[in-house]
Amino acid sequence: MTTVNHHADHPGFSGLTGLLAGLTMIPGRGPVARLVADLAGVSGTDRVIDVGCGPGTAVREAARRGARVIGVDPAPVMLQLAKALTRQPAGITWAEGTAEDLRQPDASATVLWGVATVHHWKNVNAGLAEARRVLAPGGRILAIERRVLPGASGLASHGWTDQQAQSFADQCSGAGFDDVHVEQHSPGRQMLYVVRAVRP
Ligand SMILES: C[S@@+](CC[C@H](N)C(=O)[O-])C[C@H]1O[C@@H](n2cnc3c(N)ncnc32)[C@H](O)[C@@H]1O
Repeated sequence: MTTVNHHADHPGFSGLTGLLAGLTMIPGRGPVARLVADLAGVSGTDRVIDVGCGPGTAVREAARRGARVIGVDPAPVMLQLAKALTRQPAGITWAEGTAEDLRQPDASATVLWGVATVHHWKNVNAGLAEARRVLAPGGRILAIERRVLPGASGLASHGWTDQQAQSFADQCSGAGFDDVHVEQHSPGRQMLYVVRAVRP
């Protein structure tokens, strides 16, 4: 199976380096946040978990749509940045955790998404098992990654090739998710892969 978390050992999300990385994740994120919220059909009845939320653009988008949202990230500096950027915190909780250990109750979410984060997860199968645990039956999972070219390196490799998107979809099926789809979307100028599925 093709590896989909090829940047699992990325060192740059803590301390000053993390802060600088987080600052680069603020501009231009609106279209992706709106896309994931649109595709998930987020409404006021949803309980959303944003895994690897970074500075929290998609968290704020879901909260604007009336959902209760938990932004989870392993990097304290990301959560500090996210809090500092959040003027209307109603409905939002920030929590330290990882995809592999979300520290949230069973069946507590109706939507779980990860934007530009799965390629950093330490253990994708553990992350998917954890997603299945925290999602209620019928809950939606979405992973979004930038489209990258096979053989890309450095910053240009932070995303997925077509093969990696398909591989993640296969892992979702293997983890017990239904209705698994791989799609391409291009909000703004970016080409993105979206893998989405439903928890039975
Ligand atoms: C490229 S940033 C994307 C942030 C945000 N989702 C966005 O699109 O702006 C990747 C994020 O994944 C987080 N991350 C790294 N390893 C993770 C893991 N094992 N579980 C969850 N999040 C992780 C990082 O701390 C970082 O905030």
